Amino acid sequence: MIAIIPAAGSGRRMKAQGEERPKLLIPLAGEEIFLRTLKTLNLPAIEAFFIAVSVTEQETYARLLKREFLEKKVYFCPGGKERQDSIYSALLAVREWTGWRVPEERRLLLIHDAARPLLERDVLERVVAAARQTGAAVAGVPVKDTIKEVGAEGFILSTPERSKLRAVQTPQVFTWPVLWAAYTQARTERLTGATDDAFLVEKTGHPVQLVPGSERNIKITTPADLRVAEAFLGGLPSPASDGLRVGYGFDVHRLVPGRRLVLGGVEIPSEVGLEGHSDADVLIHALMDALLGAVGQGDIGEHFPDNDPAYHNIDSGRLLEDVMTALAQSGARPVNVDVTVIAQYPKLAPYRHLIRENLATRLGLSVTEVNIKATTTERLGFIGRQEGIAAQVVALVKHCSACSLV
Ligand code: CTP
Ligand code: MG
Repeated sequence: MIAIIPAAGSGRRMKAQGEERPKLLIPLAGEEIFLRTLKTLNLPAIEAFFIAVSVTEQETYARLLKREFLEKKVYFCPGGKERQDSIYSALLAVREWTGWRVPEERRLLLIHDAARPLLERDVLERVVAAARQTGAAVAGVPVKDTIKEVGAEGFILSTPERSKLRAVQTPQVFTWPVLWAAYTQARTERLTGATDDAFLVEKTGHPVQLVPGSERNIKITTPADLRVAEAFLGGLPSPASDGLRVGYGFDVHRLVPGRRLVLGGVEIPSEVGLEGHSDADVLIHALMDALLGAVGQGDIGEHFPDNDPAYHNIDSGRLLEDVMTALAQSGARPVNVDVTVIAQYPKLAPYRHLIRENLATRLGLSVTEVNIKATTTERLGFIGRQEGIAAQVVALVKHCSACSLV
């Protein structure tokens, strides 16, 4: 079995309600929708993934998958104008694929919308089992509202009997001959705008079986769906802890003559300063590590390699701006930070307030949300001998999609 993932939509309805981020990259409980969906399909039975994405976004998606999906075969196909075009584009790639180990009529293609990140294993297994028997099966749930067909100016034309109606979902699973025949027939007959695959198969006369889907298996379409999905993922969200993450950072730099001493973005007059590739602002380095840690994004060494000439003598405040952007992109913002500077020299008290104000501005926090502590080591060890300065930071961040729940 292979999986086809349509992921080339533009999220128009999401944008129309004020959401600016690309729909499939919005984090749900801290993880992008696209990645969550793919993880629900990461099963041994699925041998390869054909993912339809717009050409300009392919690299972004490939980078996301690299983190989690190493052992799978993943092929990106150019998405089309409509969902139907995206699936057809993937089918053209599947047709060229040479990895099959069973004859054509037993080759299964599982289609699942990238926008359905809450797929459960039992739904998937039901659809696949049915498709093995019948060649074509889809998941669906009974509709709860009474459905009306409406015409011009909102006048009702008809009321189909509710008990016979189902809202269809993906997965939709077909054997290769059934699906290929449906998509090629649609092309010859110039049938466009199909919003699901079963529709095109129905047109060929091949029976399609509907098996129970799940009410959890929602398609993320509007901002309200994000809240529903967050609730499904977190159980009942508790305002106290929902979306909160903590991170910790630690750094040390050596004190040497002839360098500037910069701590928390504030230059402190001194005979000795901190040695490093950048401006060696040990405090901001520990702070950045704490923030990156809270959103699960590694450390500053990964983001700003110290052999990259671009960072030579750079103002660490500039790097902090990049970290804040990374935080925003993963849907998070700082809540508060607590800093400890461990230094025998210099005395920090006269600069503490300046540092605090500077960091608060850079983090978008008030000064009460930024705490700066300083301690010596009672002349013990390398810090006590004034050979270096260390800093430790604990940072709390909150995921903003969850913020809207509170
Ligand atoms: N899709 C696609 N190619 C398109 C349109 C949609 O691959 N030209 C994908 C979407 O990325 C999504 C799935 O088909 O995973 C279902 O589409 P939908 O939920 O409608 O998403 P969008 O088309 O992105 O949203 P909208 O219709 O609001 O623009
Ligand atoms: Mg759409």
